[in-house]
Amino acid sequence: MKNILVTGCAGFIGFNLCEKLLKKKIKIIGVDNLNNFYEKSLKKKRVKLLSRYKNFTFIKTDISSNKCLKILLKKNFNYIFHLAAQAGVRQSLTNPRIYLKSNIIGFFNILELSKLKKIKHLIYASSSSVYGNQNKKKFSENLNTDKPLQFYAATKKSNEVMGYSYAINYNIPMTCCRFFTVYGPHGRPDMAAFKFINAIMNKKNIFIYNNGNHKRDFTYIDDVVECLFKLLNKPPKKNYHQIINLGKGKGTDIVTFLKIIEMTLKKTTKVKLISKQQGDMIETLSSIRKLKNTIGYSPKISPKKGIKLFIDWYKSFYENKK
Ligand SMILES: NC(=O)c1ccc[n+]([C@@H]2O[C@H](COP(=O)([O-])OP(=O)(O)OC[C@H]3O[C@@H](n4cnc5c(N)ncnc54)[C@H](O)[C@@H]3O)[C@@H](O)[C@H]2O)c1
Repeated sequence: MKNILVTGCAGFIGFNLCEKLLKKKIKIIGVDNLNNFYEKSLKKKRVKLLSRYKNFTFIKTDISSNKCLKILLKKNFNYIFHLAAQAGVRQSLTNPRIYLKSNIIGFFNILELSKLKKIKHLIYASSSSVYGNQNKKKFSENLNTDKPLQFYAATKKSNEVMGYSYAINYNIPMTCCRFFTVYGPHGRPDMAAFKFINAIMNKKNIFIYNNGNHKRDFTYIDDVVECLFKLLNKPPKKNYHQIINLGKGKGTDIVTFLKIIEMTLKKTTKVKLISKQQGDMIETLSSIRKLKNTIGYSPKISPKKGIKLFIDWYKSFYENKK
């Protein structure tokens, strides 16, 4: 019987994952501190939606606190999806301390918890940002990741190293997922897909960094959730720790991505091209061979289809709020 702890359950990926697991009647304990990195109201709304399920329990707590560890030690679960983190690359340049607290101390607490509770499989979020700028077009898991471009990426890389040491010293099966630019319903307001749709709908200007020369491996949320679900039953066989890219495996340049949004909305807005920002990666593209080999599945949803689904959700969500 699987009882699962999901950290960051009020966040974009955590919420969508919880919904899927709850529909499958799996018991979930969801944890989040509901911080104000973006609108708290969005996070509260997500928790409200999850609380409609009888098999969901929500605990508002900060994973970097000792109190959180004490509370969770008393709860009943044998698997963990760890998705709580201070996300976003840009803010880590101006406010690194909050990344240290949530992503390093918080992650350490999750490792301790996994050890003390003898967790059967800990699946945790890392990021494509650990690759930094590479000479290789496609990022495979064995590339060197010692030169992250932002402190956010440095915290994620640290997690991978910390995770490895706990996995091999305490025999905790762990999977580290390197996510590549996830988008879709309940998406993050600080990310490009959401920002573009929001700007077009509200007739605001769109600012595109690096004069439109960025390319991203956009990955639709349902694909991410499906892969996470399939990974649950695929803990590493040897070495206790595995790192797996979780991307679509196809790069789309940011201007093309915007054009698809404009075509779907049948609307445009003013676009201002601006220079590259400090810490920006130019291209991200995942090798998904390892993902396919591990779970026999890979992301299917094209940007065209994913954007249509995202826009449908955006319209219904914001129209219902009016
Ligand atoms: N969305 C992406 O494209 C993407 C890409 C790469 C990596 N990631 C990683 O995936 C994970 C989920 O990202 P997301 O996009 O859903 O972000 P998100 O910000 O929507 O979700 C993270 C959640 O964690 C919570 N949280 C943060 N610090 C906490 C703390 N100290 N204690 C308890 N809760 C805390 C936040 O309130 C938030 O609800 C993160 O680890 C992120 O770094 C996401």
